[in-house]
Amino acid sequence: MEFYEVLKTRRSIRSYKSDPVPEEALRRIAEAAQCAPSACNRQPWKLVAVRNAALRKKICEVYRNPFLAQAPVILLALGNASMAWQRPGDDHSIVEIDLGIMFEHAVLAATAEGLATCWICAFERAKMDAAAGIQAPWTVLAVSPLGYAAAEPTPYQRKPSAETFEIID
Ligand SMILES: Cc1cc2nc3c(=O)[nH]c(=O)nc-3n(C[C@H](O)[C@H](O)[C@H](O)COP(=O)(O)O)c2cc1C
Repeated sequence: MEFYEVLKTRRSIRSYKSDPVPEEALRRIAEAAQCAPSACNRQPWKLVAVRNAALRKKICEVYRNPFLAQAPVILLALGNASMAWQRPGDDHSIVEIDLGIMFEHAVLAATAEGLATCWICAFERAKMDAAAGIQAPWTVLAVSPLGYAAAEPTPYQRKPSAETFEIID
């Protein structure tokens, strides 16, 4: 799929078939994620593809929206704030920016593979870490179902670019 078509095709999908995801696709998605840039090249992330049904069930007890439970794979984006570069002045860890870039690489690669995803951040982190068996300094910052779409996305809604983009000459 051509790059701009991938961008336009990627949507948040909230209905999944149970068909398995080919292992080769998972590996290509992981390689695409690993192409992501990060501040000082710290790569303060891990990408985990959970196929194990018992572990997926525990994760779905923390994020209870049924579409997550339908997908055959759950992607976990783990971040490590102490590994990430810290901004001088306020020592703010840049981990969430780095991780967001990495996970969006994974999501776009999944789209190119004909797979569907949906970024999920609306969960209690401590509960998600406990359910997924993740220990400090690592933490789950985002989750996504990964699988084949069973429904069309909602209508596309974006602000007009005149509101969000300007050129200053
Ligand atoms: C950082 C982030 C967190 C999100 N968290 C959730 C979530 O917890 N649950 C959910 O259903 N969608 C979540 N979404 C999906 C957004 O609702 C969706 O991207 C937005 O409505 C635009 O729709 P689209 O992705 O189909 O273009 C999240 C998206 C992002 C980027």
